[in-house]
Amino acid sequence: MSTNQFPLSGTPQHLVLAQLQELRNSDAGWYGPKMFIGGSYFGGENVLELSNNASRLYQNYNALYAGKMFPSLVAIEKKVISSCLDLLGASSNGGGSLTTGGTESLLLAVMAARNWAKVKRPTSNKPEILIPEAAHPGFDKAAHLMDLKPVRLSQSPEYRADTTQLENAVTPNTIMIIGSAPSYPYGITDPICKIADIAQRHQLWCHVDACHGGFILPFARQLGRTVPEFDFSVAGVTSISVDIHKLGYANKGVSALLVANSELQEYQRYSFTNWPAGLYTTMGISGSRSAGGLSSAWAVINHLGTAGYQEIVSEILQARDQLIAGIETIKGLFVIGNPDSYLVAIGSDDLDVLGIDNMMSDKGWVTSQLHKPPAIHLFLDRANAMNIENYLNELIEVITAYRAGERAAERDSTAYAR
Ligand SMILES: Cc1ncc(COP(=O)(O)O)c(C=O)c1O
Repeated sequence: MSTNQFPLSGTPQHLVLAQLQELRNSDAGWYGPKMFIGGSYFGGENVLELSNNASRLYQNYNALYAGKMFPSLVAIEKKVISSCLDLLGASSNGGGSLTTGGTESLLLAVMAARNWAKVKRPTSNKPEILIPEAAHPGFDKAAHLMDLKPVRLSQSPEYRADTTQLENAVTPNTIMIIGSAPSYPYGITDPICKIADIAQRHQLWCHVDACHGGFILPFARQLGRTVPEFDFSVAGVTSISVDIHKLGYANKGVSALLVANSELQEYQRYSFTNWPAGLYTTMGISGSRSAGGLSSAWAVINHLGTAGYQEIVSEILQARDQLIAGIETIKGLFVIGNPDSYLVAIGSDDLDVLGIDNMMSDKGWVTSQLHKPPAIHLFLDRANAMNIENYLNELIEVITAYRAGERAAERDSTAYAR
């Protein structure tokens, strides 16, 4: 007999809410001083309150119907897109559309490239996409869904895309080349100028995945930090994905796919008429989508402005410097490569870093792990930035205990998100 069961009688509202609150309390929460993981993008209590309030105003508005029912949403969407275009160096020819998240932005970029190639660069065999080793799996998911061939290439010794390999891998079937700004595993930006140059010479669609960097690298540069070239100011960059629900501090459900030339947006469009309800046309992959993330994006961008984001980015970069300097003083540990933003991976030549991270986890530190090379993976945000000293101190204690023979229970933790 099935154990599935639809609730029989209704439960009063206050009890349902109390039960939900209890369920929520059984989790550790999504941000906190010991959480160094991608479930947390905390921009401060006041920013959180604003984004929640702004989100609530439009939570039940369906952005799919914006043109027909909600002129205010059309204006809100326009403002958010134009802010992102400005931030990422687009010219007045640039265009963009909002999606529900980074993965949808990647799917959309690949779909647009595929449709563009059908017209501009037809291939005789299955179209191929060149994907550096550390790029997000969303590109492979896109290739899987659209029956394209993903070509993953190993990275350079600096943990960046290897442009020699990328160029050697171009075939008459290649339609698209990808770079990350930065990559999730190492927080290191690929050589976008070289990637875009390959794209120009071989007539490829060049996509830069700035889902992580889009709201940190431009402000880091404004603060005088050395930031690699990665945006539309680089000739040959066709599209950029940027997640406003990550370092933009909007509520979940909002990302953007930007294009250097708004004419390219037509390659994103899907239209259908052969059913009884008339024209169905979308610029994204999803149909209905809540406008809550979008309204919170509008509110947070307008509230923080350049000065507000600079303040947060400055805090995070100081925390990163403190973390890197601290790791460099701990015998046996090193920081992988030269991270550009707020993602830092810590490796070791002689210690079992994953075992050590498991011991840190027993002390309440929530992190991710890499398996190539084995490394502790840390996200920095406003909730943990003030806690770097404690992290480093406990790490030293744990390493001392490890060297003395202590171990954490075995566990398999090198999963990105499950
Ligand atoms: C570099 C990069 N691109 C894209 C994504 C996908 O974003 P989302 O989880 O919002 O779908 C991620 C997620 O962490 C990412 O790290």
